[in-house]
Amino acid sequence: MDKDILNEKIINNDDKDELIRPQYLNEYIGQKEIKENIDVFIKACKIRNEVLDHVLLYGPPGLGKTTLAHIIANELGTNLKTASGPSIEKSGDLAAILSTLEPGDVLFIDEIHRMPKYIEEILYPAMEDFELDIVIGNDGSSRNIKIDLPPFTLVGATTKAGDISSPLRDRFGIVSKLEYYKTSELIDIVKRTSRVLDFPITEDAAHVIASRSRRTPRIANRLFKRVRDFALVLEKETIDKITAEESLKKLKVDDYGLDNNDQDYLLSLINKFNGGPVGVETLASSIGEEVSTLEDIIEPFLMQEGFIKRTQRGRIATEKAYKHFNIKLNI
Ligand SMILES: Nc1ncnc2c1ncn2[C@@H]1O[C@H](COP(=O)(O)OP(=O)(O)OP(=O)(O)O)[C@@H](O)[C@H]1O
Ligand SMILES: [Mg+2]
Repeated sequence: MDKDILNEKIINNDDKDELIRPQYLNEYIGQKEIKENIDVFIKACKIRNEVLDHVLLYGPPGLGKTTLAHIIANELGTNLKTASGPSIEKSGDLAAILSTLEPGDVLFIDEIHRMPKYIEEILYPAMEDFELDIVIGNDGSSRNIKIDLPPFTLVGATTKAGDISSPLRDRFGIVSKLEYYKTSELIDIVKRTSRVLDFPITEDAAHVIASRSRRTPRIANRLFKRVRDFALVLEKETIDKITAEESLKKLKVDDYGLDNNDQDYLLSLINKFNGGPVGVETLASSIGEEVSTLEDIIEPFLMQEGFIKRTQRGRIATEKAYKHFNIKLNI
């Protein structure tokens, strides 16, 4: 019986995702500076026999924040408890999570910028003094209670560092910004995934996938899996360059790795708004997306690659964007 369950787990796709996720620092590719620092801080806290300082990780989606939180707990040899900012609605929710912690545990709060303000305030003494101050009961007979917590490490993750209040940010001893990945690092990630999933890929095919993954490991892995599907159906035992290129064409990923959303964004900016400047709300409704999707997911990459600029009067398409679509720039 147990064995069947185990087998089922092996063929389940989600568990394969967990297999792909690096478990220790030495498997985590790129982000050299963050890795080196975290390695030192972990070693130092072990020598001092203290808990690791609280860690804030920020950066665009899919760059490895959740992965790093798991790795920190693994390297410390402690448990990881997970919560997400918007799901902590009442002080009791936070108390319930904190009361499950054992000494040295890592509490991972994803989307920490979406935590309600009053929850944030309860978190301050918990982070600073490992103490929980909560009010119980209603107005008539409410009273404060103080609960001692075991020392723990809070790892917070956010895609929007700007939305974190400064009192909260100040309580993190370690603040790290994740950067977009270099193509060479993404090649290593694709090759690692190919080994883990046991489907070979040639070096130049790995390069094709890596250079079209928006500098993002999650996208590199996703593209690898889709290209592998094409290869499988074509009865190829190895993913080669032509298979990778043909599959990505069918997936509508262009030479630069811009996906449908990026293309809609840029073409709307260029064609409907004459290249801007245009406000983000107007642009969002013109392509039927949320403002937060534009700000958190689409724009950071387009900005980093120099396709757009953010000005006081709104977004502007750069010459590079016009060139990318072979559209003449009217001045
Ligand atoms: N440095 C890395 N080396 C190898 N693989 C990585 C690395 N970073 C991320 N990955 C892979 O990319 C996937 C996405 O990473 P992760 O879930 O940690 O991103 P995230 O920053 O938490 O994204 P989100 O903001 O959407 O929560 C992981 O499942 C992992 O397999
Ligand atoms: Mg995450």
